[in-house]
Amino acid sequence: MDPRRFRALALGLVFAVVLSAPIHAWAQEPARSAPNIVTVVETMRTYTQGLGVECIYCHVDGQNGRLNYRSDDNPRKQVARKMIAMTADINTMIGLGRSEHSTTRVTCLTCHRGVPDPRPLNDIIREKMEREGGQAAADHYRALRQRFFGGPAYDFREELLLTTVQTFVDGRPDEAIELLKMNLEFYPQSSRGYSALAYAYTRRRDDPSAMTALEKALDLDPDNSIARGQLEQLKKYQRRR
Ligand code: HEC
Ligand code: HEC
Repeated sequence: MDPRRFRALALGLVFAVVLSAPIHAWAQEPARSAPNIVTVVETMRTYTQGLGVECIYCHVDGQNGRLNYRSDDNPRKQVARKMIAMTADINTMIGLGRSEHSTTRVTCLTCHRGVPDPRPLNDIIREKMEREGGQAAADHYRALRQRFFGGPAYDFREELLLTTVQTFVDGRPDEAIELLKMNLEFYPQSSRGYSALAYAYTRRRDDPSAMTALEKALDLDPDNSIARGQLEQLKKYQRRR
């Protein structure tokens, strides 16, 4: 027997034993072509890989330390059901009028790219900032970075964060400062990062902090002419006062 097939079968047996009950929905509908437990678990694997999660993410704890796969008490399972239907619809639409092997098949991974929240990082951070403030947004960013850095899903480069912060720094300098300070934890040598922080301080009318940040920006990169210009301006302004 092909070893891969053997492994799949063996896994299926293990799961069949682990499960406290037969796959009840399918077992009760013999008229439907009943997918066996191997197929079910393989399908479930595409979910865990697509979203970068464990089985418990959608299922709930059952008895004797096992998961209760049948229960619908986890709201994420309900969302997943809609997602499964949506993904099937998308594939139907893509496939219309074309032969099966000439079409791309969309899977959970296509959108989710190994993470549960498929939105681009800038949307996630902006929304968190608007709902819960700069501190919460910074904490969330740190947590995502800790977990997903190096993977393909989120763009953790400094550019993305700086351009995101730029969109709200004038209206919400305090939130911007939280995020820009966090950025410097990850890019402590970034002259641009310090320039951006300085700008946010000026929005809060905190010129002394802005000047300190600009000096740091110039230490790191003496060619940062924007920082130099801003520092000159602030100094002139201070002398006039
Ligand atoms: C992204 C959410 C999600 C993840 C992660 C997930 N499942 Fe599921 N699972 C579902 C949904 C939704 C159903 C119900 C499908 C249906 O009713 O059509 C289901 C059904 C099942 C069933 C059939 C239960 C029954 O009797 O009705 C089994 C067994 C199962 N999952 C096992 C697993 C295993 C093992 C894992 C981890 C490898 C896993 N699942 C991970 C969403 C998930
Ligand atoms: C076309 C893109 C797309 C595909 C394909 C897709 N998803 Fe999603 N998924 C999303 C979006 C967008 C959200 C966020 C929805 C929201 O904000 O309410 C989401 C959210 C979810 C969530 C909720 C996550 C959370 O923690 O709140 C689950 C669970 C989920 N998807 C499961 C799946 C599964 C399982 C598949 C494959 C069968 C799948 N998705 C395929 C776009 C997709």
